Amino acid sequence: MMKLLILFAAQFTFLVSGFISSESDSLFSFSQNDLVSVNQLQPLMVNLTLIHGADSKGAVCLDGTLPGYHLDRGFGSGSTSWLIHLEGGGWCNTIRNCVYRKKTPRGSSMYMENQIPFTGILSNKPEENPDFFNWNRVKLRYCDGASFSGDSENEAAGLQFRGQRIWLAAMEEMMSQGMENAEQALLSGCSAGGLASIIHCDEFQTLLPKPSKVKCFSDAGFFLDALDVSGGRSLRDLFGGVVQLQEVHKNLPKNCLSQLDPTSCFFPQNLVEHVETPLFLLNAAYDVWQVRSSLAPSTADPLGSWNDCKSNHAECNSSQIQFLQDFRNQMLDDVKDFSKSSQTGLFINSCFAHCQSERRELWFADNSPLIDEKPIAVAVGDWFFDREVVKAIDCPYPCDNSCHNLVFK
Ligand SMILES: *[C@@H]1O[C@H](CO)[C@@H](O)[C@H](O)[C@H]1NC(C)=O
Ligand SMILES: *[C@@H]1O[C@H](CO)[C@@H](O)[C@H](O)[C@H]1NC(C)=O
Repeated sequence: MMKLLILFAAQFTFLVSGFISSESDSLFSFSQNDLVSVNQLQPLMVNLTLIHGADSKGAVCLDGTLPGYHLDRGFGSGSTSWLIHLEGGGWCNTIRNCVYRKKTPRGSSMYMENQIPFTGILSNKPEENPDFFNWNRVKLRYCDGASFSGDSENEAAGLQFRGQRIWLAAMEEMMSQGMENAEQALLSGCSAGGLASIIHCDEFQTLLPKPSKVKCFSDAGFFLDALDVSGGRSLRDLFGGVVQLQEVHKNLPKNCLSQLDPTSCFFPQNLVEHVETPLFLLNAAYDVWQVRSSLAPSTADPLGSWNDCKSNHAECNSSQIQFLQDFRNQMLDDVKDFSKSSQTGLFINSCFAHCQSERRELWFADNSPLIDEKPIAVAVGDWFFDREVVKAIDCPYPCDNSCHNLVFK
């Protein structure tokens, strides 16, 4: 019995990782063992499909290999509904770290896993994913390093920056796979993919047949242009490098660029007001990626006085908690106008988390995070199907005891 349990637990080990910037602590990765009961169903494994012919449109990964996706067909009442989920995983902002990325699954299909588990919003099981389980569900792999939005190259370094072309080639492929007849569609994504789902939201709506119901959902994609612990703007520096190196400005909304510089237009706080398609923002108020890599990266904290707090929220002292509360307040300020529209949705919980739609225990389970008794999957479903208006904003830390807070080893 014990052996069986351990075996099972090992199969449910998730590795969530991202690679960013040139800082020494930029290799951000963590893993968490999930204790699962023996009777839990094994997740569906879905094969990788490469987009053949994408290279003739110049739609290639950083290293020139074909982009790829995982598709599980919908069934029953979901057979004409489509979920497109954009994979995340940081960005590359210099020649050096883009060259590094070429040798990883985030820069080359040569290194991508052939099969991945479909969990959370991608699950095919109604008890884990009540509203989208029988849709056509697609995970588009991320291998361009600029949230599917760059378009340039660096021949000397052998780098292709073709995120925008990958996005378009993938959408063409999905159309030929049946999305051209979609009656409902949701563009989602997590982290760098959550940012991409905001950037591409209106394009997605334009591609789909009228009068289908089309919405977008960004998970952990609300990256703030915030001051870091030393008063600098670490994330703005990173984003500036990404935008310049990969010529992302070509694909940012013109109505933002007419008011602000391209780097500012890569920040969701300046984008969401221009998105016309209904959009839902899911974010942890103390997004651990942003705490670690935007607020207190080692470059902004050379003495490492944030190291303990960064790896475990319980180790933060009162002034650090205050800093994090100010960050939460900024996030709430930045979504205030967005929240006023009747078609938008919000779920900002006061947890130390990052990406809450991809994992069963965060998305929809007996003990998953709640706001007003509502789990994330139900909030997103209520909003998509217009069952209820969802503007869920949590009370500040530490009031929410439904959180699964990430602790880093
Ligand atoms: C997925 O790929 C494996 C080989 O890696 C193959 O055995 C299996 O038949 C494929 N499944 C589907 C549904 O194509
Ligand atoms: C919290 O920790 C930081 C970094 O070690 C330190 O500078 C600050 O004075 C501490 N604040 C309190 C209230 O202890």
